[in-house]
Amino acid sequence: MLLEWDDRRFGTGFVEIDTQHKELFRRINLLTEAIQRNSPAKAEAGNLMYFLDDYVHQHFACEEEVMERHHCSACPRNKADHAGFVKSFKELRLAFDREGITPAFIDRIHRDVVEWIENHVANVDTGLRTVAT
Ligand SMILES: [Fe+2]
Repeated sequence: MLLEWDDRRFGTGFVEIDTQHKELFRRINLLTEAIQRNSPAKAEAGNLMYFLDDYVHQHFACEEEVMERHHCSACPRNKADHAGFVKSFKELRLAFDREGITPAFIDRIHRDVVEWIENHVANVDTGLRTVAT
């Protein structure tokens, strides 16, 4: 499943955060495509895993700072969700380094990355709408 941006569903009211989310969606889609090919592109998937690891840390820090600054009520839930994602993504990276692209890895990317980001942005990050001006 590829992620498709929809302002009504994912827009937070903060351009900077939406731009970062769109970039996350784009890179996650590239990862999905890389691991679903008939001969999966391991090097490309590896590069995307490394990129995402770095980018989510920057993005989460930025988003948490914006929520804190605006006293957004979604802030505690957001931080807890981010911590959960960081932990599961680290496990995914280790599994990828150890075993490469296995069916279990592909399942986990779908559940713990693709579905996670879709639900998280739609249900938690959009809490920012309440404090957007
Ligand atoms: Fe978030």
